[in-house]
Amino acid sequence: MASFQLRTCLPCCLLLITILHPVAGLRSLKTIPIVKNVITQSNPKYLNASTVPHNTPSESKVDLILDVKRLMSNLHMNFVLWVNVISGTLQVPLYNQTIDFCEFLKNPSVHPLGQIIHREVKRNGNMPSKCPIAADLYAFYGIPMSGIRLPNFFPEADFMLQVFIGLASEMIYDGRLYRTIKRIQCTRAARC
Ligand SMILES: *[C@@H]1O[C@H](CO)[C@@H](O)[C@H](O)[C@H]1NC(C)=O
Ligand SMILES: *[C@@H]1O[C@H](CO)[C@@H](O)[C@H](O)[C@H]1NC(C)=O
Repeated sequence: MASFQLRTCLPCCLLLITILHPVAGLRSLKTIPIVKNVITQSNPKYLNASTVPHNTPSESKVDLILDVKRLMSNLHMNFVLWVNVISGTLQVPLYNQTIDFCEFLKNPSVHPLGQIIHREVKRNGNMPSKCPIAADLYAFYGIPMSGIRLPNFFPEADFMLQVFIGLASEMIYDGRLYRTIKRIQCTRAARC
């Protein structure tokens, strides 16, 4: 009787191990944000902007270079966020807000989503702290995407973020960032 139970139990133990194995494997994965694409437009009368993403297997960084040609004030900024963007189908944005860009530079906390981006950009270059913005080269190298996490009230998903800066009815800067989530294995170099 006892040997019969052992024999029937052995295959079921093996089955259990097979089922549990991938679950145990999942614990050593981590999710990282990866930039799929960045599309930048700028108005050459005011500035020349370029955005260059750098992806390595374990992280994603972006360089942002803004060559401002003339003194600028009275700017507004429009943040639009689309989540779960399936290529070709643009749905209603999850979030769409326009704010005074000069106020935002003085006090980024007026905009919680903008503040997260502002903090990471500022850390990597010479961010102006108020208007008017002087004609100069503003360069930010290696802005880490891992630092640009959405606030908790947004789902951690694929998204497209548009940052539009305008002066009255003129476009100054229009940057669109397509970001996705990738799962990678934890290693000594990519800790969890
Ligand atoms: C804009 O910047 C890019 C990269 O920094 C440069 O290659 C290009 O010549 C610039 N264009 C103008 C009009 O300044
Ligand atoms: C965002 O809202 C403004 C008005 O507040 C509207 O004009 C604009 O079309 C909206 N953008 C998108 C992408 O829906």
